[in-house]
Amino acid sequence: MATRREFITTFGAAITAIAVAPALVVESCAPTTLPILAPVTPPDTGPDGRIPVDVSDLSSANPAKVAAGLTGPDGKPVMVTRVSDTDFRALSSLCTHQNCQVNTAATNGYIICACHLSHFAMDGSVLQGPASSPLVHYDGVYDAANKQLRIKFV
Ligand code: FES
Repeated sequence: MATRREFITTFGAAITAIAVAPALVVESCAPTTLPILAPVTPPDTGPDGRIPVDVSDLSSANPAKVAAGLTGPDGKPVMVTRVSDTDFRALSSLCTHQNCQVNTAATNGYIICACHLSHFAMDGSVLQGPASSPLVHYDGVYDAANKQLRIKFV
């Protein structure tokens, strides 16, 4: 059986814990300082409803890049690639194997997915599995006069 002193000590500690707990909860729910994000500006489209992407910097040595600020319907960055001097493609950067994002640098002339090492050609076709389907293509029209790939999501 507890002595009167033991009872008062134990009871006092319990009362203190009950009194302090709400203050801890309120403090942990206090608003945090969140960064203010810049508003998202949709990309400009031309009169044809297409989004122009400059591809003048793509070459056989540097055949792929991310279209800056352009996200595809899958929520992933859009890649633009050079197949030849007159053939450019707009591709999803989402690997068709298990949905990792591929490496958009295209070293050694092909696109690699680092998750399981699938390789894709500049036209999006599979060079090496385990992926068995090509990268998703978007509708792109090459404008040679302006060195742009004009992309439309359908
Ligand atoms: S997710 Fe890309 S190779 Fe597996």
